[in-house]
Amino acid sequence: MKLLFFCVPAFFLIYGCTSFSSKHSTPLSDSSIFSRDIHTQSNADSLQIEHLDLDISVNFAEHTIAGVAIWKIKNPNHLKFVRLDTDGLTIDSVRSNGKPVLFSLEKPVAHLGRALTIPIHDGNNEVAITYKTSPNARALQWLTPQQTHDKKFPFLYTQSESIYARSWVPAPDGPGIRFTYAARVKVPNELMALMSAENPQQKNDSGIYHFTMNMPIPAYLMALAVGDIAFKAIDNRTGVYAEPQMLDKAAWELVDMGKMVSSAESLYGSYRWGRYDVLILPPGFPIGGMENPKLTFATPTIIAGDRSLVNLIAHELAHNWSGNLVTNETWNDFWLNEGFTVYFERRISEAMNGKSYADMLWELGYQDLVTEVKALGDTNKDTHLKLNLAGRDPDDGLNDIAYEKGALFLRLIEINVGRKRFDAFLRQYFDSHAFKTINTEAFLQYLNEKLIQGDSELSKKLQIPAWVYGPGIPSNAPRADRERFSIVDAERLKFEKGTDPAALATAQWTTHEWLHFLRNMPKPLTVAQMSNLDQAFHFTQSHNSEIADLWFVMAIAANYTPAFKEMEQFLSQVGRRKFIEPLYTEMMNTGKEPLAKSLYQKYRSNYHPLAQMTLDKIVH
Ligand code: BES
Ligand code: ZN
Repeated sequence: MKLLFFCVPAFFLIYGCTSFSSKHSTPLSDSSIFSRDIHTQSNADSLQIEHLDLDISVNFAEHTIAGVAIWKIKNPNHLKFVRLDTDGLTIDSVRSNGKPVLFSLEKPVAHLGRALTIPIHDGNNEVAITYKTSPNARALQWLTPQQTHDKKFPFLYTQSESIYARSWVPAPDGPGIRFTYAARVKVPNELMALMSAENPQQKNDSGIYHFTMNMPIPAYLMALAVGDIAFKAIDNRTGVYAEPQMLDKAAWELVDMGKMVSSAESLYGSYRWGRYDVLILPPGFPIGGMENPKLTFATPTIIAGDRSLVNLIAHELAHNWSGNLVTNETWNDFWLNEGFTVYFERRISEAMNGKSYADMLWELGYQDLVTEVKALGDTNKDTHLKLNLAGRDPDDGLNDIAYEKGALFLRLIEINVGRKRFDAFLRQYFDSHAFKTINTEAFLQYLNEKLIQGDSELSKKLQIPAWVYGPGIPSNAPRADRERFSIVDAERLKFEKGTDPAALATAQWTTHEWLHFLRNMPKPLTVAQMSNLDQAFHFTQSHNSEIADLWFVMAIAANYTPAFKEMEQFLSQVGRRKFIEPLYTEMMNTGKEPLAKSLYQKYRSNYHPLAQMTLDKIVH
């Protein structure tokens, strides 16, 4: 045993010593544990784990999910055991091909949870795990009726990306491992269940729902939502789910979903997942959207009443090519999911709303990137596209780099090779890697083979190593046309020089012009300036969450107290991290720690466990 510590490189030790005591000493060890994905302890890449049959029931009184997960496996490499990821699960019993077996739940590893080791033999074709989740499971948010939109029934939803599926299903939880699944889910009679699978469109009386997902997906795309949910069709392949009193508003906002799918298809090939539906969640949902296959989960904060924030749906839809169809192999390759998706999302937006609209999105994204690089420091390795998240929770490496630097890199290639060639390349990329995983190096090789093809002048122009393995924003970064925003800048300057806001030429502005207007204001404004703006444009009362959020941050900085009541209202309802994190951060940074603390104490329990994790580090 001791010797192993000398011959095993440090990063392997993360798996614990037992993993290396080798085939000879303990039956529960295997060298196949040398997985290349550092965020899973599963040895699934040496087995064939092909299908999951899940039979669970959802207990709102206990805040637990309990049931049986049956994994269909093949064991061509004659392994002695299978290892799955778990986090906080209680394992009651395990059967291997129907017979009870002794399993072992290994020591917890920081961020990764506990590996579940189950002995198997050559002819093994299934393992069945009877288990229960913990009330604190990181993927799950249990809402009281009060925390929902309609305030009548409790609600539950999952958020599995990046490595939280293991907190509600014992699973090989790495993006490089795909499987199909079927599920039977028992919920209280008055509620409906939905999954990232073929879904019901109506409640039934039994409270038992059946699901199938026949296309192989990684564990981070497993999803479940349970609540008082109703459905409304948009067209014959798209539709919206929401709480009943939210449904019509949501369906109005998302009326163009069918067109969106068609326009995505004309860019990069057919949509391969059957139906495309969106579930609008209660306001505590910690993120904007999640690309769960067949059923995007989305925050209600995109329901602005004017369809101006639906590009978030274009983003989640685009993931059905970049991410769900062609998946990042590890979380270090996250930009292959998100950078491609942002690029694709903006192409959909351009196709639907024109170039000047897409240019605004590109420019706002560029501003986000500049801000992020400044925050992280322009030599920080976390500003590389290829990340090194060893020893960290992937959630900690989550920032705008993968999104905006990734998208900008693709835009740079597009500009240099021409849109026609680039689109043909991307379409071929999605087709040839469909239902597969890819890492950064394999993508670069594919890019070289199919597009660069030895053109050294093109290579020189692109500076690929600087983008992928270098920090900050490379000098050849393209910048979008700023036609519409230069008009906004001119009006903002007038305001800064004392023009009455009511006299500014703002009549034609859309949400994105307003965002640019507010974002670029000097900080802090005076209380008088804030008050003038508010009188002219009623920002404090804005029903547009993006505008309101920005405004509240400005209000904190300026100590503009007339906005504080609405801000508190916002913080009491909305759980979207992107919105609440800047508000609490601004309070902490501008001498309003007592306010931050008292609000956080009041509303912390309204936030998702992952949002709590983030905010606990900020408000203390
Ligand atoms: N897949 C992400 C959400 C995610 C990423 C969850 C990493 C957990 C870990 C999703 O597609 C996303 O990017 N959502 C964005 C919206 C988008 C318009 C940039 C969000 O939630 O803000
Ligand atoms: Zn995304």
